[in-house]
Amino acid sequence: MRHFLADDDLRPDEQAQVLRLAADLKAAPYDAKSLGGPRTVAMIFDKPTLRTQASFAAGIAELGGYPMLVDGTLAGIGVRESVSDVAKVLGRQASAIVWRTFAQTALEEMAEHAGVPVVNALTDDFHPCQLLADLLTVQEHKGELAGLRVAFVGDAACNMGNSWLLAGATAGMHVIVSGPEGYVPSAEMFRRAADITSYAGGSVSDEPDPVAAVTGADVVVTDTWVSMGKEDEATSRAEVFAAWSVTPELLAHAKPDAIVMHCLPAYRGKEIAAEVIDGPQSVVWDEAENRRHAQKAILTFLVGAAGDSHE
Ligand code: NVA
Repeated sequence: MRHFLADDDLRPDEQAQVLRLAADLKAAPYDAKSLGGPRTVAMIFDKPTLRTQASFAAGIAELGGYPMLVDGTLAGIGVRESVSDVAKVLGRQASAIVWRTFAQTALEEMAEHAGVPVVNALTDDFHPCQLLADLLTVQEHKGELAGLRVAFVGDAACNMGNSWLLAGATAGMHVIVSGPEGYVPSAEMFRRAADITSYAGGSVSDEPDPVAAVTGADVVVTDTWVSMGKEDEATSRAEVFAAWSVTPELLAHAKPDAIVMHCLPAYRGKEIAAEVIDGPQSVVWDEAENRRHAQKAILTFLVGAAGDSHE
């Protein structure tokens, strides 16, 4: 039984396989590579969602499956029913469980008891489905991943910063994170990513100066300064992060053909200037579309015929 709980659940060859499948499914959305039958996939969202719910629902439908939206509040996961009981119940109804929640440990508990693949639709720690979509997007624009220089600027301590470290390392990229002191991934996360670079090539590093981080970058990435659950810190964070805003001036230090990425939702004038996110180097709408293709691929890999060969 395979799950997709964090970016490094896929080995480099598997990540490449899933990305190839995603590109194939994008070219032929209703092609035979499917879930292997009319499967139901359960989706639960304990945090707000737009892209994730829409892209999973559309993608599962395109695969010939049924996206079963389970209301986490009605179910009372972890309150009315334990995570392990919910996992056992949903595992008897669905071929996979897609869950957006807070604690990574809760997701791991779901995976331990579900008996079907569990997919991380964002936790406090990781957003691996977004990274598959982002890597597909980079591949489309740059032709390859290995060896590219990626600068993640802003709140690098959030799920997106962690996921870029692990997924970028898996793809053999050079990932540089840049955030204020205290807002970069943990030493443990750097060790985990550095382990991957030892066999996948690439590198991971921390560069506090945003200009130095972005200089020569092929890909410039940012994310909201106020992740879901951190809303109380919005005012203080706006001050702390001001120098890490992706403005036209900062972007000018990247390669002239650099692409700019943001998983959305975006706050123009905060982590990214309107001219940048709405400008010619931005690929954010491709990223949003590619969520569907990438998630179809990971579901097919875990659940469908492609998953049969790697129990
Ligand atoms: N870091 C952001 C990602 C949103 C898709 C958050 O967790 O809110």
